[in-house]
Amino acid sequence: MEKAALSTLLLRWYQENGRDLPWRVKDGAHHNPYAVLVSEIMLQQTTVATVVPYFERFMEKFPTIQSLAQASIEEIYKYWQGLGYYARARSLLATAQIIAKQGWPQTLKEALSLKGLGTYTAASFLALAFNLPKTVVDGNVIRIISRLYHLTEPVKEILPKIHKLAEDIADKDHPADYASAIMDLGALICTPKNPQCLLCPWQKHCQSFGKKDIEEIPLLKRQKKIEKKGFVYLIFNPKGEVFIRKRTEKGLLSGLWEFPWDDTSTIRPNAKKTDKSVTHIFTHIKLTLQICICQSNTAPTEGVFVAPASLSGYPMSTLMKKIIKTANI
Ligand code: ADE
Repeated sequence: MEKAALSTLLLRWYQENGRDLPWRVKDGAHHNPYAVLVSEIMLQQTTVATVVPYFERFMEKFPTIQSLAQASIEEIYKYWQGLGYYARARSLLATAQIIAKQGWPQTLKEALSLKGLGTYTAASFLALAFNLPKTVVDGNVIRIISRLYHLTEPVKEILPKIHKLAEDIADKDHPADYASAIMDLGALICTPKNPQCLLCPWQKHCQSFGKKDIEEIPLLKRQKKIEKKGFVYLIFNPKGEVFIRKRTEKGLLSGLWEFPWDDTSTIRPNAKKTDKSVTHIFTHIKLTLQICICQSNTAPTEGVFVAPASLSGYPMSTLMKKIIKTANI
């Protein structure tokens, strides 16, 4: 298959049909590497539709790498809350502080030395921000390549082969546009279900076109989510204020505020179950918490009582926000 033909077809399709996204220019490198950095970190594990409004608010509040480098993590959380995977916000701050001092990375080695940039993000950042010829391989590209060459083996076993093929067909003369174009091909045409093959610029070259098994490619062995159940406690004082605590700096959701909860099967003494519960899906865990109400007079040591109306001033995860909404406080 003619590699130049593939990239010409894709780039032509992209110019007509590629998405207009707030972090994107459609002709070569972006003029603002900072916009690329913020968007690529936000787009790790989060969909484009979710990221767009977060990105716009974030860029308005922190318009430059210097403004972000000088911000506190508390302030950043306010603009990240609800986006999930909060370690990304901490990594982005650390990385902004380094870039503000040392300048922008120009090589894979430099990019990979920054917090929050793995192989994929380092490559996509360098391609999109500086038009450097780096091959971007994410879930979309894996799907496209596996279908293009009708690779039916489990992905885990053929990743090096997929990387090699992706690298072979990548356009080294237009890396930024090619990276954006292949992302859009995966998002708009070569979708996991109901791929729009009739509109695909690579239809004629695709070894899976017209085959019944196209939706089963690539073959992914999904890890089943672990189900956990527990209780979350809304502890009210006589003033009607509710208790929240701040998670410690390490680990899942660290630095965000929360109602006390645990995933044990025994309810705490003096707590009353309600008939309401919330379920939230994390990467590997499905967590269901039953909402419980408690009354307390004692001043807490490891947290604060706040008026329900003031809860919005404390950065919280989507799980905690669901609890506020479900419990109607
Ligand atoms: N996913 C990861 N990076 C992206 C980008 N720059 N545009 C759209 N989707 C993406």
